[in-house]
Amino acid sequence: MEPEARRLLEEVRGCTFDDFLFAPQCSVLESRDPSAIDLAARVSEHITLQRPIVGANMDTITRSEMAVVLAEEGALGIIDRGFRPSQIDEQVRQVEIVKRTQHGIIPDPSTIPLTATLADALELMARRRVGTLVVVDDAHLLRGLLTERDVRFVADRANLRATPVTARMTPRERLVVHEGAIAVEDAERVMVERKIKKLPLVDTRGVLIGLITAKDILRQKRLPFATRDAQGRLRVGAAIGAKGDYLERAAELIRADVDLIVIDIAHGHSAVMGRALAAFRARFGNVELLAGNVATAEGARFLAERGVNGIKVGIGPGGGCTTRINTSFGVPQIQALVDCRLAVGPDLPLIADGGIRRDGSLVEALLFGADCVMLGSALAGTQETPGEIVHKPVLLPESQKSVKVPFKVLRGMASVGAIRDRLDIEDAEADLDALGAEGLEVAVPARGSVRPVLHDMIRHLCSSISYGGACSLGDLKRMFWAAPDRYVQKLSAAARRESYER
Ligand code: XMP
Repeated sequence: MEPEARRLLEEVRGCTFDDFLFAPQCSVLESRDPSAIDLAARVSEHITLQRPIVGANMDTITRSEMAVVLAEEGALGIIDRGFRPSQIDEQVRQVEIVKRTQHGIIPDPSTIPLTATLADALELMARRRVGTLVVVDDAHLLRGLLTERDVRFVADRANLRATPVTARMTPRERLVVHEGAIAVEDAERVMVERKIKKLPLVDTRGVLIGLITAKDILRQKRLPFATRDAQGRLRVGAAIGAKGDYLERAAELIRADVDLIVIDIAHGHSAVMGRALAAFRARFGNVELLAGNVATAEGARFLAERGVNGIKVGIGPGGGCTTRINTSFGVPQIQALVDCRLAVGPDLPLIADGGIRRDGSLVEALLFGADCVMLGSALAGTQETPGEIVHKPVLLPESQKSVKVPFKVLRGMASVGAIRDRLDIEDAEADLDALGAEGLEVAVPARGSVRPVLHDMIRHLCSSISYGGACSLGDLKRMFWAAPDRYVQKLSAAARRESYER
């Protein structure tokens, strides 16, 4: 180990967020505009995010709605496994919703048979909320395109039931069609050159394999940082456990084209995890895989040696977590990150999971060894989190009057409520004692969309890069690790009060 690294490890022993400030360096950035500063980071060996943020796999944080917005903003959501054993389908459905959110190539456009009528077409368009149907025959060969406009201006409305779609569709012979797969940029060029708004894709036999629309390409351009797979679909991850139905769950999620599987258990440095990783790799080969949680050098090495593509670090720092209170085990999060980073070397991605309560903690986690941060409480209460808003009376101290304030629930995945829901325990009280619940259930004020929350975080991260004298996140990390002493200032209790208490 390099002497600077050894010194850093000693320096951070027993420390977590808020124990440090970084010394400002001469700034070189002309502007802190987040669209001009490179924040790219790997969440796993083969997946890069433009924003180093991951939505926690908690049933009160990340389901499809949150995962879509996170991916659109350049981050990534991990769908939790808080579905009962019989509800693998429900977790798969959440993944499918994200993968089907369309901005690029539509791999399975809505189709209508040649024999259908215009009334059938209108009904299907309304049900699927789409404006274009691809007309196909029994062999799924492309035969034409039918748009809302083709149907809307039919003079004889009474005869919609009697008029076949073939009477109004643009037939195959008059369409511009592309044979085989195509990149979105090439499709855009074809559409501009040929002055068309829709480009159907077919295979060599003429079977429909996709559709690209100008509207989706425009939407895609408005989201320049979005996290996408090779086909232009939004990316999403999903969590599984290490026992029970976990392999069956993984198989279904992989079938739904999930981008990343996370084997997530409270104590990832364990025989159970070792067995699960071996079984997973034996069955699914190189599927992109994160595992956790660990918080020590030995724990990180244990996972790295078993071929994971990234490691989730954090035992007990989470906002909804009572592990440390109940067990007195855990590692202060900054110490854990530095220790794990030095143990696995510079290349294996680490996700700092838990304990980020203010935007400035992001850069602490990222400099002390994490590639990305995983957020739970920091996203809680936003409109995209699952769950209903409840109105609770709150007493105003000035007037002693109570007003009703909207709240949403945030609960740890090891809380009594989450475990009860997951395991479908009928006689909950008796069994929960045995399970040793280690999570809280709290009400957090309901707020608006998560997008401005993310935008603020990103802006603040860009400011950190500027204060750190760097041009990009990668640049700042390189400068930090080359000379940590130039940055790290450990705080006295008074300095901590001066810095973080307001
Ligand atoms: P934050 O601080 O962002 O942390 O809310 C999110 C992370 O907390 C972990 N988590 C738990 N840990 N008991 C625990 O010990 C729990 O019930 C629990 N629920 C969530 C998890 O790692 C999450 O990503």
